[in-house]
Amino acid sequence: MSTQEKTAVTPEAFLTIGSAFCDWFEANGRELPWRQTRDPYAIWVSEVMLQQTRVEAVLGYYSRFMEAFPTVEALAEASLEQVNHLWQGLGYYRRAALLHRGAQYICQVCGGRFPDTARELRQVPGIGAYTAGAVASFAYGEEVPAVDGNVLRVLARIYGIEENVDLPAVRRRIEEIAQHMIPPGRVWSHNQALMELGALVCIPGTPRCAVCPVAEYCTARARGEASSLPVKNEKKKPRVVPRTVYIVTDGKHILLHRRPAEGMLAGLWEFPGWPDEDSPRGLDPDTLPCDILFQREAVQAQHVFTHRVWEMRGVRVQVEGMNWQELDEDYRWIPREELKNFALPSAMRAFAAYVRDAGFGAPEQGEE
Ligand code: ADE
Repeated sequence: MSTQEKTAVTPEAFLTIGSAFCDWFEANGRELPWRQTRDPYAIWVSEVMLQQTRVEAVLGYYSRFMEAFPTVEALAEASLEQVNHLWQGLGYYRRAALLHRGAQYICQVCGGRFPDTARELRQVPGIGAYTAGAVASFAYGEEVPAVDGNVLRVLARIYGIEENVDLPAVRRRIEEIAQHMIPPGRVWSHNQALMELGALVCIPGTPRCAVCPVAEYCTARARGEASSLPVKNEKKKPRVVPRTVYIVTDGKHILLHRRPAEGMLAGLWEFPGWPDEDSPRGLDPDTLPCDILFQREAVQAQHVFTHRVWEMRGVRVQVEGMNWQELDEDYRWIPREELKNFALPSAMRAFAAYVRDAGFGAPEQGEE
């Protein structure tokens, strides 16, 4: 934004654009389950699930989660294991652990009274400026902005902000603009509208300016640079981590390992792997309390995380006489039908499918 343009954007102009957003949303917004409630807990759950995740992917998870944990107390009393199980497949599992911890904080430290201002919400572990703004504005009507990556994109384009939106000072300026745009009494529609527009119209890459309710006000569109905004930090390429994953089995049982309570995929179950940088507490099959009949290459799989790619080589370790009582406490030797009861990350999907395959338990041909 040049100095001249900055001064040209008056408080009235902000409000005009904010009101245009509200009108558009009130006529066109989707009816989504978390838009039918003013329950701060339900809104909080939805906002956490929607981080980095599309609405369509969230819908089923959201209704199952709310059925299992309809109140903040129910969530606080659940085990992380139960929470992870309902999160299974949604990804970014740290969100589930933080939601759980946040619920415990609200019940234990806030005495069960749900914080009702953005300022207080920020005190809850795991709740940042965006989520605090979303919950405070949607549940309580507090006139505060909620600026996530989608909203940054929309506002960087409308106001032609060419600086890097990952810079804290630029982000703060955009948050201030978002604050000034809120028409009094209409914060709910306004904040929902920005999110909706970011998801459906002002999308990454080539935006759908032809259907945009504020196209006439959009600086980036006027300059023909909508596709090149916002400017962000260059993304580092995810690093490739080769891994060996063991499917230890006697044909009827399989060995599962619970990942440590801290770090990547914390507390989730997995097929154990050879120690590597992402799983320092790995497994050397030769140390297992059983006889190994043979080891053979099984499935291969790749899983892409934000900063990592796991290139996984699955090795079937056929064993007999497992003395499961001697396993370390973060291992379980389970009947393979029980696999569905454990929260496994999507990274393990190919190995879980291998174990579930009808031919898995069939007698194996000799030693290799
Ligand atoms: N993404 C983040 N918050 C959202 C909301 N309330 N509705 C739709 N998409 C969203």
